[in-house]
Amino acid sequence: MIPALSVKEALASSAPRDDVRVQGWVRTRRDSKAFSFIELNDGSSLRSLQVIAQDSLPNYLDVQRLVTGASVEVRGKLVPSQGKGQTWEVIADELTIVGPSDDSYPLQKKGHTPEFLREIAHLRPRSNLFGSVFRVRSRLAFAVHQFFQERGFVYVHTPIITGSDCEGAGELFRITTIDAKNPPRTGDGEIDYARDFFARSTFLTVSGQLEAEAFACALSKVYTFGPTFRAENSNTSRHANEFWMIEPEMAFCDLNGNMDVAEELVKYLIRDVRVNCPEEIELFGKFVDKGLIARLDFVLDRPFQRISYTEAVELLRANGQSFEFPVEYGTNLQSEHERWLTEKHFKCPVTVFNYPKEIKPFYMRLNDDGKTVTAMDVLVPGIGEIVGGSQREERLDGLEANMRRHGLDPADYKWYLDLRRYGTVPHAGFGLGFERMLMFVTGVPNIRDVIPFARTPGSAEF
Ligand code: 4AD
Ligand code: MG
Repeated sequence: MIPALSVKEALASSAPRDDVRVQGWVRTRRDSKAFSFIELNDGSSLRSLQVIAQDSLPNYLDVQRLVTGASVEVRGKLVPSQGKGQTWEVIADELTIVGPSDDSYPLQKKGHTPEFLREIAHLRPRSNLFGSVFRVRSRLAFAVHQFFQERGFVYVHTPIITGSDCEGAGELFRITTIDAKNPPRTGDGEIDYARDFFARSTFLTVSGQLEAEAFACALSKVYTFGPTFRAENSNTSRHANEFWMIEPEMAFCDLNGNMDVAEELVKYLIRDVRVNCPEEIELFGKFVDKGLIARLDFVLDRPFQRISYTEAVELLRANGQSFEFPVEYGTNLQSEHERWLTEKHFKCPVTVFNYPKEIKPFYMRLNDDGKTVTAMDVLVPGIGEIVGGSQREERLDGLEANMRRHGLDPADYKWYLDLRRYGTVPHAGFGLGFERMLMFVTGVPNIRDVIPFARTPGSAEF
């Protein structure tokens, strides 16, 4: 049998072909006198391929009963299209109905709300919008690897199950095989996790950073790219409980070098998608966010503004704008503050650095002022924080002091402290939220709509 062509390949053909085979799902079908026109889509491209089924086909009666959602295989001739809007179409010599559909198929031609489509997350990739989102997601993941591989970074698979709380925020999903009805107890009545599966407490990782640091202190430039999990009860459009994070870690690198790489990565990814997913970006610009293309180009064209946290707080306080949350030195910037800085004030992406040590995790390097740590966040219009990172505390004494200040027991982090005992080096890294980056390049305003099957508080269907 001749190999099947994807719809994308068929549409890109340079010459007519006598015998082609295509497969996919019926988007729409309409009848004319002696023909049935079928729009066939297989997800390889935003565009569909028009198939013409003539009434001479032996199963023409069945073809006339085909409805949206059915799967078919077609053998026929690829010919220049008579109709407008497409270059090629297929005249069917043979049309096999692989899987029928019926009128209860929920994805009909009329527009559906994102909320409704979330309820049919198993079918929504068959829509133009979600097909496009997930093709861009795939391309963006490839571009992430390309960026780091081109620059000599080594890809490290950090563990999903871990014993440490990297961010120290206590937002951990516990992994256990203990029988909830009859758990083993310690002498004082607590659940005895020493008798759990791994002979200790374990959790789904919130970040691959600590393990990436170990590898950076051997392979110099590394990155992880994998799923991370946070049991935070934030019901916002930018938080998910399972999301993917890209975390480079670089030995012999300081905060400035770290900010350089983060800013370069964000620009590289935007440029890659602009070049390689033009049809999808055009669709988003038309139907999702009219300002998208201008905003992407805006970020590509401008250098990132860098300011310290202290300067950011002064700007926010001086501008007199009434925020929902007040701005005070020593508190976290809220997303409304971040967005004001990037959207209203600087009108460009902004990298904020040197945050007060009290509001940042234990691993960040203490600055000479004794008050701030070498943290940095990259803020972009429409999203706010897209990257969070820092130079790490490479001095053993300082790191142990940080841990105690955060109520952590250095004895629990022996392996991590060893990295400072044996050949310690200045090193730095960051985490880029993959879904936030996707929201940025697609203009899709809700994180639930850029991840195949979203996990959010109260919701883990599919
Ligand atoms: O700022 P965060 O918490 O930093 C870390 O986890 C560091 N260990 C990274 C590092 O230095 N290696 O998270 C990094 C990024 C955020 O800027 C944001 O883009 C994304 O991860 N992120 C989330 N994305 C979706 N849902 C959530 N709940 C997220 N929490 C963080
Ligand atoms: Mg952060």
